[in-house]
Amino acid sequence: MSSSNTVLDFRKSAITRGNVFEGNSVPELHAKPVALKIESVAKSYALSGSELKVLEAINLDVQSGEFISIVGASGCGKSTLLRLIAGLDIGYEGAIVYQGKRIEGTDLSRGIVFQEHRLFPWLTVEANILLAFASTNVPKAERKERVKAQIELVGLTGFEHAYPHQISGGMSQRVAIARALVLRPQLLLLDEPFAALDALTRLKLQQELERLWEHEGLTTILVTHDVEEAVFLGDRVVVMQSHPGRIKRIVPVRLARPRIRSNPDFQCIKEDLLTDFV
Ligand SMILES: Nc1ncnc2c1ncn2[C@@H]1O[C@H](COP(=O)(O)OP(=O)(O)O)[C@@H](O)[C@H]1O
Ligand SMILES: [Mg+2]
Repeated sequence: MSSSNTVLDFRKSAITRGNVFEGNSVPELHAKPVALKIESVAKSYALSGSELKVLEAINLDVQSGEFISIVGASGCGKSTLLRLIAGLDIGYEGAIVYQGKRIEGTDLSRGIVFQEHRLFPWLTVEANILLAFASTNVPKAERKERVKAQIELVGLTGFEHAYPHQISGGMSQRVAIARALVLRPQLLLLDEPFAALDALTRLKLQQELERLWEHEGLTTILVTHDVEEAVFLGDRVVVMQSHPGRIKRIVPVRLARPRIRSNPDFQCIKEDLLTDFV
């Protein structure tokens, strides 16, 4: 039945074709509907009287259920692009169309997780996640149930009543992910969610993110400055470059999941991507 089966099917076919394609669209993906279409997007900020061009000619089609990683040097516009997709900023040129509709503000179908977890220190884990429902009409009883289930999914059972200062950075980031997922978004946007965590916690959360993505059949866009993380998780890795921020190339990762970091093919893709940063 599920979309996750289709996702697996697409991966199987992609893997057998080898990792050779580069470009904006991946022909064999076209069996799946495009969830998000980014067309000729440009964005400028006014900076001390002049215009700072931050994004230029961004074109990207994201398939339903696809996992996109975006890497690029600091300041190349990754967060700006993610904020536009989230609808947190609507001042841009071009078109960003999600499920056939132009993005004109935030929507519960699109969840976002930031690098800093942004939890309220005076609220418990459970209350922080419950807050996600503030602007919804989901009945109270159902909210509780969904929060409970989400806490279990992100591995925080037993910590419902803990306060942010009583849990680790990794656990706080899990709360932030739970808070985004509890609204059951179809598109999950993550802006360097693991950047502030220690290496081991990061590896664990990468695995958990992959599990949640498969479980929920989410379309996911992950911004990261960690090339290995991008390859571990992405169906495609979008490389951005600066001044102005634009897409340099898109590299498909046609490797079976879960990916093995020591695998020579994995290493090969990672090394190739790293050449963009030296
Ligand atoms: N609100 C803003 N006003 C002016 N310039 C901004 C604003 N937000 C970001 N920028 C500039 O836009 C560029 C891209 O920023 P950002 O999207 O945060 O990059 P990244 O996430 O890739 O590090 C940077 O040069 C940054 O200084
Ligand atoms: Mg950023």
